[in-house]
Amino acid sequence: MFKIDNITMNNRVVLAPMAGVCNSAFRLTVKEFGAGLVCAEMVSDKGIVLENERSLQMLYVDEREKPLSLQIFGGNKDTLVEAAKIVDTKSNADVIDINMGCPVPKITKCDAGAKWLLDPDKIYEMVSAVVAEVEKPVTVKMRTGWDEKHIYAVENAKAIESAGGKAVSLHGRTRVQMYEGVADWDIIKQVKEAVNIPVIGNGDVTTPQDAKRMLDETGADAVMIGRAALGDPWMIYRTVRYLETGELLEQPTALEKVEVCLLHYNRLIGIKGEVVATREMRKHAAWYLKGLRGNGLVRNMINEAETKEALTDILLNYAQRLSEEKVG
Ligand SMILES: Cc1cc2nc3c(=O)[nH]c(=O)nc-3n(C[C@H](O)[C@H](O)[C@H](O)COP(=O)(O)O)c2cc1C
Repeated sequence: MFKIDNITMNNRVVLAPMAGVCNSAFRLTVKEFGAGLVCAEMVSDKGIVLENERSLQMLYVDEREKPLSLQIFGGNKDTLVEAAKIVDTKSNADVIDINMGCPVPKITKCDAGAKWLLDPDKIYEMVSAVVAEVEKPVTVKMRTGWDEKHIYAVENAKAIESAGGKAVSLHGRTRVQMYEGVADWDIIKQVKEAVNIPVIGNGDVTTPQDAKRMLDETGADAVMIGRAALGDPWMIYRTVRYLETGELLEQPTALEKVEVCLLHYNRLIGIKGEVVATREMRKHAAWYLKGLRGNGLVRNMINEAETKEALTDILLNYAQRLSEEKVG
C-alpha cells in the first residue's frame, strides 16, 4: 500500500504513462490485473485549453480505473495552470501529474517535458502555480537530468516538494540517453533520501524480481512499470503477487494472451471506433504475441487486417493452432 496525499493505492505497482498506449482501454485492462495506480498518456496543455477534440477525449476516465493519474505537459505557465484547472474540475482523475521527462525534440523545444530538468527554479515556479489553483494532488514525473553533466534530480525533487508537489516519479535516465543505456537506480535512492514525499522508481523493471530489487535497493515507495507491461498485463499481476507473497506465477498461455488482447481490442473499439482501433491494435497485438512460436507470419497478417472480424479471426485461429500443436 502507498499513498499520494489523501489517495490510497492498494499496492506499490504503478503502470507508467505511455503516449499512444495508456488510453482507457489499456489502463482498465491493466487495472483488472491489479495495478495499484494507472497513469494516463500525456496530454498537451494547449490541446486542453484550446478544447482540441482529441485532447479532451484523452481526459476520459472510466470509474473502474481509479485511482488514476492524468498527465499534462507544457512549457508555458499560464496554459499549464489553465489546463490543470480543467483536469481538476472536469475529469475524474485522482492525481494531476506534470510531465518533466519527455525527451522528444518536438516537446523539449517548446520548453516542455525534459527541458525543465535544467532549471529547479522554474520547476518550483511552475509546480507552485499549478498547486495553488487546483484541489487534486499534483505530482511530477521526471528523468534524472538533461545529460550526465546536468543531473539535478535531487535539487529538482526538492523544488517539487517545496512547491507543494505530492509525489515524484523518477525514470533513472537523462534526457540525452533517451532509452539507451541502463537506468540509474542509485539516483532514485538519492532522491528518496532527500525528500519526504513519496518517490516512485522507474526504469528497466522487466521482471517481478526486478521490481522487488528496485524497491529494496532504492527504498522507493512504489515501482513504475512501462515497456514490460506492453502486451503483458500479467507482468503487473505477477509483480503484485511476487511483492506480496514471494510467489512467481507462470506466464500466460497463448490462448490467455489472445483472450486478453481481444478484450483490450474490444474496449479500444468502444472508445475509438472499429477503423482507428483496428489500426492501433496492430502494434498491441504484436506485443501480446511476442515470444510465441511462428508469430512473424501472424504479425504480417495482422498488419493487413482492416476489420474487427478479420483481426479477431486471425488471433483466435493462431491461438487455436498453437494449443493444438501443444496437445499433439
Ligand atoms: C511508447 C512510450 C510512450 C511513453 N509516453 C510517456 C508519456 O506520455 N509520459 C511520460 O511521462 N513518460 C512516457 N514514457 C516513458 C515511460 O513512462 C517510462 O518512464 C519509460 O518507458 C521507462 O520505464 P520502463 O523501463 O519501465 O519502460 C513513454 C515510454 C514509452 C515506451
